[in-house]
Amino acid sequence: MPRARTTYAETFEHVKDLMQDARGGAVDLAASQPYIEAIIKSLGRNGDALLSLTKLRRCDKYAYTHSVNVAIFSVAYAHYLGLPENKLHLVGLAGLFHDFGKIFIPQAILDAPRKLTSAERDIMQAHVLLGYNHLVKEKDIRPEVLQGVMQHHEKYNGSGYPNRLRGSKISIYGLILSLSDHYDALSSKRVYKEPMPANVALAVMYKMREEAWAPGYVERFIKMMGVYPVGTPVLLSNGERGAVCHSNPEYPTLPKVMIALNPAGRPVPPRLRDLREHPGLDIERSLTGNDAEMLDVGMLLSHA
Ligand SMILES: [Fe+2]
Repeated sequence: MPRARTTYAETFEHVKDLMQDARGGAVDLAASQPYIEAIIKSLGRNGDALLSLTKLRRCDKYAYTHSVNVAIFSVAYAHYLGLPENKLHLVGLAGLFHDFGKIFIPQAILDAPRKLTSAERDIMQAHVLLGYNHLVKEKDIRPEVLQGVMQHHEKYNGSGYPNRLRGSKISIYGLILSLSDHYDALSSKRVYKEPMPANVALAVMYKMREEAWAPGYVERFIKMMGVYPVGTPVLLSNGERGAVCHSNPEYPTLPKVMIALNPAGRPVPPRLRDLREHPGLDIERSLTGNDAEMLDVGMLLSHA
């Protein structure tokens, strides 16, 4: 967990620097390689540790945490799908740079606390081409990275943008990026919206499956994340509250939970409940708003 924390923090600082420095200038893609390498290694050591850190996002730093999180989810999912290691690097880079074009979009549009007008939506959607046009100038950039960036808002039924690609015209890179991007966007807090609990975000994505993604891909994404992904604050059926700290892939609804509050709502020293070992005890629901904020998820995960 401490090593995963270092990997996350260093990648975050790297993304912040590259997005702040990049306006107008060149992007040094090679400089990002060691960070992707560290993400791949960290996921290989303990996938839950790095994935759990994506839950500790800071709303005011969304542009940076979102890029790091999408890179992490994309690499994890590409690995889950069986892509070879050299492709994991490309997926990771595409994740870090997928929304690069947003550095050219006015902050007032990025953070607008309301529905965008159609003119504003056009400007917002231009981030894909703006990012692509900037990155394509890099001499060593690989086509897979550009595909991921260019296709992360395309949809299986052809209703996406910018090229309204349909079906198999969308590459595996676009597909992986789109799933990771949706999941992080839905489950993140923004200035204009509360975060969706991770299990609710996955349920919303499942409903979108026919329009948005090739058959079977969202199902596998959910299987990888677990029905209650690591870091989800939950209420157990006995009234205890805590955070999911390990998934049980064979029993996706029965993860390990680190308990913080007893049924009376009083704090208790963190203790681990493996729901597989407690017949009859299960997750009542995920927690939101104040109920979720009463739990220090970061502290609980550090005990896992
Ligand atoms: Fe985007």
